[in-house]
Amino acid sequence: MIDHPDRPYRPRRLRATPAMRRLVSETRLHPADLVLPMFVREGAAEPVPISSMPGVVQHSTDSLRRAIAGAAEAGIGGVMLFGVPEHKDAIGSGATDPDGILNVATRIAVAEAGDALVVQTDLCLDEFTDHGHCGVLDARGYVDNDATNLRYRDMAIAQAEAGSQLLGLSGMMDGQVAEVRSALDGAGFTNTPILGYAAKYASAFYGPFREAVQSSLEGDRRTYQLDPANRREGLREIDLDVAEGADVVMVKPAMSYLDVLADAAASSPVPVWAYQVSGEYAMIEAAAAHGWIDRRRAVEESVLGIRRAGADAVLTYWAVELAGWIR
Ligand code: PBG
Repeated sequence: MIDHPDRPYRPRRLRATPAMRRLVSETRLHPADLVLPMFVREGAAEPVPISSMPGVVQHSTDSLRRAIAGAAEAGIGGVMLFGVPEHKDAIGSGATDPDGILNVATRIAVAEAGDALVVQTDLCLDEFTDHGHCGVLDARGYVDNDATNLRYRDMAIAQAEAGSQLLGLSGMMDGQVAEVRSALDGAGFTNTPILGYAAKYASAFYGPFREAVQSSLEGDRRTYQLDPANRREGLREIDLDVAEGADVVMVKPAMSYLDVLADAAASSPVPVWAYQVSGEYAMIEAAAAHGWIDRRRAVEESVLGIRRAGADAVLTYWAVELAGWIR
């Protein structure tokens, strides 16, 4: 920077008018870069509110259909579906059942969405297991990595058969991307892409999600999700997922992990997405409800910050509302 005593550089010149600020803006939000996570509850006749996520519901199949139409209308890039089953068991049978709620919801969403947006599915067992873990347990109650991957292989085929257009592998088992890739290819689904939740941290910010999916988890996921202290290990997970064949990788949560996100964005050869999770949503909603922050500005700034740090797309519960503001 030129340091001239008589004519100091004045950065404020480029901030003086809205038109100038718009012209020099480095980062823009666009509806196509937003993905809406959605919950679908088996047996629900009406949408069921989620108290810790004001404005977010567990959908019935009918309200799902309407919400997909609304999401398409808003021009967002995609939706990520989560199922809330009526019955759970030790191996999460509902996940691989073609008539399981997530697979049913996927068929409905794909039929409604047409080519307007990308219908994605959460590929993980935690919504379907009675113990609430992301995998199956061994005799000592430890999450069995390789036995879980066998379940993920079957789950991947069930989801691909239901029409899912991007499988979101969120279970954090070692080798899960390679296993699912080989299962898909073996079943002829060579064109079904994989989103690897590569750097997924064991986070307190998933709190409200546990209500959203009526999780039965006791304890935590620290034997498989990343330690929030570890940046280098997050990048290692990104590299592994890319090497195993992930088409897109994810950093999750978003706002407390922007360093990992920026590093991943700088080095990844595939798109890097970030998931602004339930607790991040709940914090802003709660503060706004108290009148402590300006809700719209806080929402926009939070997602903008995630994009600025390097996310190519953002999963956010505000996707549709935010798209409306952008347009
Ligand atoms: C696992 C999964 C979780 C979330 C998305 N996928 C929960 C967890 O890992 O405990 C959390 C998303 C959120 O908090 O918004 N299927």
